[in-house]
Amino acid sequence: TIMHLFLLLILQATAALGQIDPAHCRYALGMEDRRIKDDDITASSQWYETTGPQYARLNREEGDGAWCPEGQLEPSDSQYLQVDLGRLTFLTVVGTQGRYARNSGNEFARAYRLNYSRDGLLWKSWKNRLGNAVMEGNKNAYTSVINDLHPPIITRYVRLIPVTKLSTTVCMRVELYGCPWEDGLISYSAPEGQLMMPPGYPIASLNDSTYDGVHERRRLFGGMGQLTDGVIGQDDFLVTRQYHVWPGYDYLGWRNDSLGTQGYVEMEFVFDRQRNFTSLKVHSNNMFSRGVKIFSSVSCWFKPRLIAGWEAESVAFKTVLDDRNPSARYVTVPLNRRTAKSIRCRFYFADVWMMFSEISFQSGITQTHTHTHTHTHRDTFNASTSDPPDDGNTPILIGCLVTIILLLVIIIFLILWCQYVCKVLEKVIPANTDPHYERVFLLDPQYQNPAVLRNKLPELSQSAEASACGGGYAEPDVTQCTPHQCFHSNAPHYAETDIVRLQGVTGSNMYAVPALTVDSLTRKDISAAEFPRQQLIFREKLGEGQFGEVHLCEAEGLPEFLGEGSPLPDRDGRSVLVAVKQLRADATSQARNDFLKEIKIMSRLNDPNIIRLLCVCVSSDPLCMVTEYMENGDLNMFLSQREIESTLTHANNIPSVSLSDLLHMSVQISSGMKYLASLNFVHRDLATRNCLLDRRLTIKIADFGMSRNLYSSDYYRIQGRAVLPIRWMAWESILLGKFTTASDVWAFGVTLWEIFTLCKEQPYSLLSDEQVIENTGEFFRNQGRQIFLYAPPLCPPSLFELMMRCWSRDIPDRPTFEGLYQALRPHVNQ
Ligand SMILES: *[C@@H]1O[C@H](CO)[C@@H](O)[C@H](O)[C@H]1NC(C)=O
Ligand SMILES: *[C@@H]1O[C@H](CO)[C@@H](O)[C@H](O)[C@H]1NC(C)=O
Ligand SMILES: *[C@@H]1O[C@H](CO)[C@@H](O)[C@H](O)[C@H]1NC(C)=O
Ligand SMILES: *[C@@H]1O[C@H](CO)[C@@H](O)[C@H](O)[C@H]1NC(C)=O
Ligand SMILES: *[C@@H]1O[C@H](CO)[C@@H](O)[C@H](O)[C@H]1NC(C)=O
Repeated sequence: TIMHLFLLLILQATAALGQIDPAHCRYALGMEDRRIKDDDITASSQWYETTGPQYARLNREEGDGAWCPEGQLEPSDSQYLQVDLGRLTFLTVVGTQGRYARNSGNEFARAYRLNYSRDGLLWKSWKNRLGNAVMEGNKNAYTSVINDLHPPIITRYVRLIPVTKLSTTVCMRVELYGCPWEDGLISYSAPEGQLMMPPGYPIASLNDSTYDGVHERRRLFGGMGQLTDGVIGQDDFLVTRQYHVWPGYDYLGWRNDSLGTQGYVEMEFVFDRQRNFTSLKVHSNNMFSRGVKIFSSVSCWFKPRLIAGWEAESVAFKTVLDDRNPSARYVTVPLNRRTAKSIRCRFYFADVWMMFSEISFQSGITQTHTHTHTHTHRDTFNASTSDPPDDGNTPILIGCLVTIILLLVIIIFLILWCQYVCKVLEKVIPANTDPHYERVFLLDPQYQNPAVLRNKLPELSQSAEASACGGGYAEPDVTQCTPHQCFHSNAPHYAETDIVRLQGVTGSNMYAVPALTVDSLTRKDISAAEFPRQQLIFREKLGEGQFGEVHLCEAEGLPEFLGEGSPLPDRDGRSVLVAVKQLRADATSQARNDFLKEIKIMSRLNDPNIIRLLCVCVSSDPLCMVTEYMENGDLNMFLSQREIESTLTHANNIPSVSLSDLLHMSVQISSGMKYLASLNFVHRDLATRNCLLDRRLTIKIADFGMSRNLYSSDYYRIQGRAVLPIRWMAWESILLGKFTTASDVWAFGVTLWEIFTLCKEQPYSLLSDEQVIENTGEFFRNQGRQIFLYAPPLCPPSLFELMMRCWSRDIPDRPTFEGLYQALRPHVNQ
């Protein structure tokens, strides 16, 4: 047939030989010949039984001859046909056809888009190398049209989404082409690539422009891109192979002094399952005349399970540097058959630049796997002839079936056993009258499946919807249990506290404070002075909630207004920047009451390391409170733009901080938190994004992180809204909704970790939000499977021990803020 001729022609074509060669990896994956089962083809809708998704097979005429989504397709519609390929696949070509139905049909899709997913949960949109997502489809009902995917996709699930400009009926038949993705890699993370601007040459852009994960804080994570697209770079990195997009396109490259003083590039790789790795191949440029060399050495660490620590023993490999031959090459690194689900490698610079164009992994595959593998290949070559069942397979098939049955028996046994253990555990935990305790046990077995987890969090999402602000969460604590119940089990000294929404109206936070008499809130309770509203000059909006906004303003004449001994820094006659929280005029009376309460609480706070309430405007609407604002912005921003001080940073004038600056910052935060803790205030969202700092590196703890879009990825989303800073939260806050000073201590540990990684990375950056919650379950179970944050290279060992104590499962094992302050302070004086 024409298709076979076509495939043969393609097989003749030559191209750069990567580990997977896209030019040869073009086998039909089984829509036409039914190796893909009906059950694995689904759709968003179907018009009739006879145009269901199972009829979307290229060149076949069963049913009414194609899949057709229900009704007319409108330009705004997003109907799709979904194919589960059953395993990770390197997908290179998509073929489509319309509904011909032996000359009675005439529907087809003129254009379509692709979505894909490696795990069936997280969907990504495919785009070509120029950033276009829409592909040309069919022009009639019978000719099949082939589209090459540049870049190819590594995926298990694919969605074809027909696109139309006019309202019309569409029908599709499809085939997918590619080959199995034997590497098993599902994501890599790396520092982002850089620009090379040598005098006299064009600028080379060495970024990973097809990366399909997250790009944040100068790192890439959670996706794959140019290092796995099968295209290897040329000897001259300025020359690109097929895509004349820009010089340096084929390479991802880094400069040796841009990543701090480490002298290496760290990458992490996550795989679909545990594998025994024999080697790693890195295709690297070696144009030494331009300062580019292969790496001098590499060290790799292994993690057998995702929820586990890195094994102490690493594999190190020194390369033989080559100063004669400038050609780009594959460097093979032996991995000694180490077992891993995840690998972290450090590639050490041998020169100013290091550039990679492709990375691949070789892993031992067990007997049965090799067998199915070869079987698949023969199948794909003989696409249209149906293979008779191979007798040689029968014993293996029987073996597999017996294994599966045995596994099922074991799983059933484990489930029964777990139910028993959970019952016992339930009895162990005291104060079980609190409905929140139930939630753990309901949720626990579900952690395996994040989709289920989301559905099982109705309390969380309801409270998120119900709250007045950008995502207050503690409301149910207040209404559903008395403080006594909430804090009974392990924090008796909180028994007298009440939880009040402090930031609830305009911001996001709640503090727990000593019980207030709510009914007696009048002007005389507010100790802050009334400031003339017209002297506040709006500069910028910092954030907003449902009933209010936070503005950055200039306050004219504020130092004079506050008088002698005012807490403001000397501004040499310039006007003072302040943060102004303002309640909208249409706020409910409840919100208004909360706002006044918030003012009352804030006006009690008086500590050099806590943001201070300066004055208020409450004599007329809208109600305002004016707090300090710090000119250096927040600590996260500040640190992420700096490197650790060294001769290199001095010589090149790179903004830097010293280790003792970092320690000084840590002490200040512990001091501020010590003050809050002494008043029984619970902050709930301690993180570097909530610490502001001035020119002299004085830190003040504030709380408006969540209302700024900049940091939205730090918060877990429920139904699209950022709500919980789960990466900073103690396990009991996530599972039980309990926020105490001890959970603030946990967050302090994470904040320290951020400081000593210079905020270059989000905590647990390799874990998705769902995996972070799964990890929380491991913290609760405490069976040694929980992942801790790694020790930052800059961090003294004694300090890392302190962090680890902050993340103790049992609250009494965590230090107090007083203890933390005492432990940290001596470090600064050294
Ligand atoms: C395709 O993926 C994008 C995200 O990349 C998503 O917004 C969109 O809803 C997806 N469409 C379908 C039909 O899955
Ligand atoms: C990579 O660099 C090019 C050229 O500088 C730029 O146009 C492109 O947007 C960048 N891509 C990404 C993903 O950063
Ligand atoms: C990896 O190797 C060990 C022995 O070294 C073996 O027991 C195990 O089955 C292997 N695992 C895989 C996935 O091949
Ligand atoms: C890093 O680059 C500098 C020049 O910018 C060079 O002097 C130094 O030797 C390089 N470091 C390594 C480890 O090659
Ligand atoms: C097709 O199958 C036959 C056996 O049925 C085999 O001899 C032949 O090599 C196969 N063709 C390809 C291209 O694998």
